[in-house]
Amino acid sequence: MQKRIYLMRPNVDSQEVKEIQKVIHSKFLTEGKVTQQFEKTIAKYTCTKYAVATTSATTALHTMFHCIGVKGKKVLVSDFTFPATILAIIQAGGKPILVDVDKFSMNVTREIIEDALNSSIKFIAPVSLFGNPLNIDFYGLRKQGVKIIEDGATNLGTKVNNRFVGSLADATCFSFHPRKIITTGEGGMITTNNKKLIEKIRSFKAFGKVNSKFVNIGTNYKLSDIQSAIGLAQMRKIEKIIKKRIKQAKIYNELLSKIDFIEPQKQTQKSRHTYQSYVCTISKQGLRDKIIKKLSQKNIESQIGTYALHSLPAFKKIPKIGKLENSEFLYKNSISLPLHVELSEKDQGYIYSLIKNV
Ligand SMILES: Cc1ncc(COP(=O)(O)O)c(C=O)c1O
Repeated sequence: MQKRIYLMRPNVDSQEVKEIQKVIHSKFLTEGKVTQQFEKTIAKYTCTKYAVATTSATTALHTMFHCIGVKGKKVLVSDFTFPATILAIIQAGGKPILVDVDKFSMNVTREIIEDALNSSIKFIAPVSLFGNPLNIDFYGLRKQGVKIIEDGATNLGTKVNNRFVGSLADATCFSFHPRKIITTGEGGMITTNNKKLIEKIRSFKAFGKVNSKFVNIGTNYKLSDIQSAIGLAQMRKIEKIIKKRIKQAKIYNELLSKIDFIEPQKQTQKSRHTYQSYVCTISKQGLRDKIIKKLSQKNIESQIGTYALHSLPAFKKIPKIGKLENSEFLYKNSISLPLHVELSEKDQGYIYSLIKNV
């Protein structure tokens, strides 16, 4: 059997082990000083005032939507995303409305939102996907009286106009699942510059406590020091990880430009795309699934880009604006190719030749 080429491999080694060992030896294993340090590291890195850790991006989003007050309110949300985005809105009692995305950047745009906005909508939940940021003009929507809660699960380290994702929306949620830029096994983070919001968030994620008193309704979304120890080691490597991913993405771009039916995700202008996933669209109908099958036969992992929420059974009844054609197209025709530290240039050439031959 040929060696397996994975879709993603976390960049973890003895550095993470050392950090975990320190926590184990301290015997303080729940959320404590190490998580606080991890939060500070993320806030500093994203140039944001505050960062709060949670158990995942899904729980970060739930916390955010709850604390910002979407209960009973409409929330515009990208249709092309992982279900976590909309599940968190529903769990917080919000009323999601699905909007389309741009076919090339795969992100929602300011124009799409402006066409959908009316005076009854005060919240928007855009998703910056696969390491590609929203256009900088998107954040100008905040001046129109809407709050932006960005699902930046895939976008730690991404920049637009030289500013980090995490510092631009009212709040941004990141993921540390092993498929993301850095990992803590499972984990998430909220960044915001809003002090009032941060107090609510800290209370909600820790049983509704304020100064050790139970004053609010809350839950337990605390991130353990063991996980944050991994996060700290990962943060020391993040720039190196991103640099390597950009280099590998360039190699794919050059190889795949020789095939006319395949097109990589269009990078947002003036941005640093971090390539959390290397995603392309295959314009010939039905070919995407054939490629996934062919790669799988050769022991190579690949995956669809992500989901068109409106076509999933759980969200069939969610109101939508327009036909969501781009999202549908991307759901049916996008593919995510292997990209990680263990992937060699030779592997990339092999993947290219297999795709070409399909
Ligand atoms: C866009 C997006 N949002 C949210 C999530 C959920 O992240 P987590 O697994 O940390 O809950 C994912 C996971 O893949 C995602 O891709």
